[in-house]
Amino acid sequence: MDLYSLAKPLFFAFSPETAHGLSIKLLKAGLVPSSHEKDDDALRVKLWGLEFPNPVGLAAGFDKNAEVADAMLAQGFGFVETGTVTPRPQPGNEKPRIFRLEEDQAVINRLGFNNRGLEAYAIRLARRRELDKRGIVGANIGANKDSEDPIQDYVTGLDRLLGLADYFTVNISSPNTPGLRKLQGRAALDELLSRLLETREAATSRFRIMPPLLVKIAPDLDENEKRDIAEIIVKHNIDGLIVSNTTVGLRDTLQSSQREESGGLSGQPLFDFSTGVLADMYRLTEGKVPLVGVGGISNGRQAYEKIRAGASLVQLYSALVYHGPGLVRSIKKELRDCLYEDGYSEISQAVGAAHK
Ligand SMILES: Cc1cc2nc3c(=O)[nH]c(=O)nc-3n(C[C@H](O)[C@H](O)[C@H](O)COP(=O)(O)O)c2cc1C
Repeated sequence: MDLYSLAKPLFFAFSPETAHGLSIKLLKAGLVPSSHEKDDDALRVKLWGLEFPNPVGLAAGFDKNAEVADAMLAQGFGFVETGTVTPRPQPGNEKPRIFRLEEDQAVINRLGFNNRGLEAYAIRLARRRELDKRGIVGANIGANKDSEDPIQDYVTGLDRLLGLADYFTVNISSPNTPGLRKLQGRAALDELLSRLLETREAATSRFRIMPPLLVKIAPDLDENEKRDIAEIIVKHNIDGLIVSNTTVGLRDTLQSSQREESGGLSGQPLFDFSTGVLADMYRLTEGKVPLVGVGGISNGRQAYEKIRAGASLVQLYSALVYHGPGLVRSIKKELRDCLYEDGYSEISQAVGAAHK
């Protein structure tokens, strides 16, 4: 029995948000035992000039303020995405705003980008750099709820954080900031990406390498929207796509009494739906754009299924609520077994295998 099985009843006695706050405090205090196991060489992924020790990452939203990236890397994640951070601090929506749907192994959240703002976040990432901390940490950037110029908010975020994170994610897919998902539309996305690439270009003289820029999309897209996104991503030579954020749909598939809470649904029920969108984006970009598969992963087989559908890397969040950080180790073990069973010696050989 692992430590989390013992602690879980205590965590579940608190509201989800209080329990999450407690996890952050324990991680910050160094009270969560780390995993010292070295990753199997078969799990290594080389992408964007970065070497991922394994392809299993922590999805955005767990460490919104970049406080526990190293503590989560020490749990065995191959990379950690911090944020979403907005230029100015903001409180987010009224509480309660996170719901555990235990029967469905799911979560609904309508947090609305609660975070302490870009300055505090940048200082924390800069401190990591000063201490020469190893491990891949991404920065997920967003716009303030009351912003008059949301595109400028992304530019501000990228400009401030260049040099402080290993990759950047442009989050235009949270359902909890009104109007944000409109940036996925053809013209808006075109403008947003042009501005961000100009910002990155202008900064390349300051840094030796150009950090990869990824776009995180919603699963709630029709065929035309998916095609438009694929076209714009390819046109701008964007480094990668993260598929997907939470869904505003799928409520009729749920058992829990909290199924009608508004917000984004994540966890088990999102798995098939988000994997379908991942496969669509792989097809629409002809396998040429690296994809990160997220949504409902709770075991190694599911991580492998995302990889076969086209993901070069995967991420998870909700399953941690139900299984604790020990899950990372078992996912990696199962994933390695899946690779070997199919006769592969590395992850890259399995990427997109379901399309062949
Ligand atoms: C409580 C909570 C907060 C989240 N906050 C963010 C966020 O700030 N930015 C973001 O891009 N995604 C956020 N997400 C979405 C996750 O990163 C992920 O895309 C989604 O939950 C699907 O993965 P999962 O089923 O493994 O949780 C959040 C998810 C949850 C459950």
